[in-house]
Amino acid sequence: MRLPVLASLLLAAACLGGPILPKPVQVNQIMDAPATNIRGAKVEADPAFAATAERLRAQLGTGGTTTVQLVKATGPVRGFEVGEEGYVIEAHPGQPVRIHARTDAGAFYGIVSLQQHAYTGNDGGTYVPPGDVMDKPRFAWRGLMIDDGRHIMGKAQILRMLDLMALHKLNTLHWHLTEDQGWRVEIKKYPKLTEVGSKRDASPTMGNRNKPDGKPYAGFYTQEDLKEVVAYATKLHINVIPEIEMPGHAAAAIAAYPHLGNTDIPGYSPKVATSWGVKYYTFAPKEETFAFIDDVFAELCPIFPNAFFHIGGDESPKDQWNKSPFAKEVMAKEKLKNAHELQSYFISRVEKLLNKRGKRLVGWDEIQEGGLSKTATMMVWRDWKWAQLAADHGNNIVMAPTSHTYFDYGQGKHPENPAFDNIGGNLTVEKVYGFEPIPPKFTEAQRKLVLGCQAQLWGEYIYNPAKQEYMAFPRACALAEVAWSENKDRSWAEFQPRLEAHLKRLDALKVNYRRPDGTPAVTEKVGRGE
Ligand code: ACM
Repeated sequence: MRLPVLASLLLAAACLGGPILPKPVQVNQIMDAPATNIRGAKVEADPAFAATAERLRAQLGTGGTTTVQLVKATGPVRGFEVGEEGYVIEAHPGQPVRIHARTDAGAFYGIVSLQQHAYTGNDGGTYVPPGDVMDKPRFAWRGLMIDDGRHIMGKAQILRMLDLMALHKLNTLHWHLTEDQGWRVEIKKYPKLTEVGSKRDASPTMGNRNKPDGKPYAGFYTQEDLKEVVAYATKLHINVIPEIEMPGHAAAAIAAYPHLGNTDIPGYSPKVATSWGVKYYTFAPKEETFAFIDDVFAELCPIFPNAFFHIGGDESPKDQWNKSPFAKEVMAKEKLKNAHELQSYFISRVEKLLNKRGKRLVGWDEIQEGGLSKTATMMVWRDWKWAQLAADHGNNIVMAPTSHTYFDYGQGKHPENPAFDNIGGNLTVEKVYGFEPIPPKFTEAQRKLVLGCQAQLWGEYIYNPAKQEYMAFPRACALAEVAWSENKDRSWAEFQPRLEAHLKRLDALKVNYRRPDGTPAVTEKVGRGE
């Protein structure tokens, strides 16, 4: 049976103690005072924290003599304003250990920290050091993007990644579910999306990206799978935001339903892509396409309760629209000057479909092409000038720049095995740690538009879960601290020993992280089909 990470940390590794990661706002130690043994402690909780209390009870067991209280904060605690997701842990000699929070999310993060802060004594007890921990996040959006389009990881791995996200107080899974190389979600009204669109004839060969391997590749998530993932994530206070790519990165959907593409161009022959890169096939700007997208939203919006919905919008070549007589007709009829304005028209049509369902559109920074909608949230991945443009327009922003957050980039030395190939570049843990998500020229008001930041696990070279973990960790540990902890509190020199201690927790969970010498912590079997 797979044990959830937070439970298995206690059971398998007991409490390792050591630093809390990401770094809390403040830790005050009381000197020369005894630690409190909470093993088997009675858990008393405000009814608002029932779920977290249950989780804590399962972790602590029974038969102890002390009490842990989960207390609802109605104002500042010891002068500290906990906010929406913050908490205060008080461990004072002779008193119950108290976790104060305003929300269940705050209480949950309190117990995640408690677990890291507590250590196992020689007598097997679980000891909380005397003092207070005061903590809250810097950003509300602390994300990880998983691309299942190129290689599908499967439900078990997604659940494991959610556990690992929760351990790092990451709260947003951006789930990239459709690509040129595969459509990975069941849509009941359009069965060919999975019958045709989830399958490709070949993939680039590992270690020789220009040579097809000739092996069929397939896979998708059922709507039941999606619901299970969302339910699991919700318990961990993680929002799941789906991404359905349009108008580009849509070759798999167009291969399944060719009438959705630009059928009036010469040589029209859409196929699920078998190589990586930016592809030629894009949705046509026709009413059938918008009706199709609306139908997809109709099935997916109720499954994903978070307000945000990601529509991609990146890397959509304009070649087909410039060739298509129909697309040109739309440009003329809508008085659009060029295909970039047609992209803006397309995105604004889609935004209305989402808004009608109570959702907010998020898209990659190309959504500004031809004019940015006032209400869209921009995910900045290329030049930071797009962040400035969005801020000048008053739009919300999520920072996801290639420079610091593309975890498909190399990270230094790795084993010779071709399955360790990556897309290129060099993004070290240290560089990730040095990321400052707020662009330097932002005014005080513009800083508030930055919802947060996230790491991207693009999947071209992520063949299986072991490779995913190798690419994600420990860079995600650094990103988590960037997203959670105040910039002024961060120092690479101080982070390194804390990370080293934290890696022991990942060892206990058998996470296949990259060791400083480039070797994987658990296995070298990181290839497709392994
Ligand atoms: C992207 O990397 N195409 C968002």
